[in-house]
Amino acid sequence: MTLTQDSTPMPATTPTPATTPMPRIGDKAPAFTAKSTQGDVSFPEDFAGSWVIFFSHPADFTPVCTSEFMTFASMQDEFAALNTKLLGLSVDGLFSHIAWLRTIKERIEFNGMKDVEVTFPLIEDITMEVSSKYGMIMPGESSTQAVRAVFIIDPEAVIRAIIYYPLSMGRNFDELKRAIIALQTADQHAVATPADWRPGDRVIVPPAGSCGTAKERMEGAEEGVECVDWFFCLKDVEPAGR
Ligand code: BEZ
Repeated sequence: MTLTQDSTPMPATTPTPATTPMPRIGDKAPAFTAKSTQGDVSFPEDFAGSWVIFFSHPADFTPVCTSEFMTFASMQDEFAALNTKLLGLSVDGLFSHIAWLRTIKERIEFNGMKDVEVTFPLIEDITMEVSSKYGMIMPGESSTQAVRAVFIIDPEAVIRAIIYYPLSMGRNFDELKRAIIALQTADQHAVATPADWRPGDRVIVPPAGSCGTAKERMEGAEEGVECVDWFFCLKDVEPAGR
């Protein structure tokens, strides 16, 4: 840090996209417009009212990414049933995206999937403008490719969960679906989900906010609520998507 003549601290460098703070859970998802394999995308307007899984992948025509795209595409209806849309990004150009998705449909078989058509938008980000806004470029891993980032964004365009994987590791799609169901279930019933929660398991009731409620709960006064201790109470709810 240097000082100006009137002793005001002056930053040594102007912030660049790479030093833009990453959006965090609870922040509004940064808005952007981009070209995609399904036409121009304006985020968040084009996704109003839906949950969104916005994810980045390192590069087209790479095997792990190919396996992930086939899996995303084959689960698209399951996500749609959870009011969830998919949106992909890599720093490759649009023609590369188009050629890669055509190759996937025409030639690639994986895990029993074949003839897979990717119909969700894959945006191009050659300038890294969008990936930089979202903290998808991690120079320690690669300064020329995005890592495998996942942003789960709610219908109000608020970021609700962020998951990162390195280049070498394909994502766990059961976990992505479980995360959407857990977030939606928590919202619908004002509850939380315990470790390793699966849809259908009991959920956590928010802790008692007064000594009176704590006592009532321990005495079994709240129907359907079972307390292990006053602060640790569980109940059954209908999970989202059923
Ligand atoms: C892949 O998708 O296979 C991949 C991409 C970048 C680095 C390593 C693997």
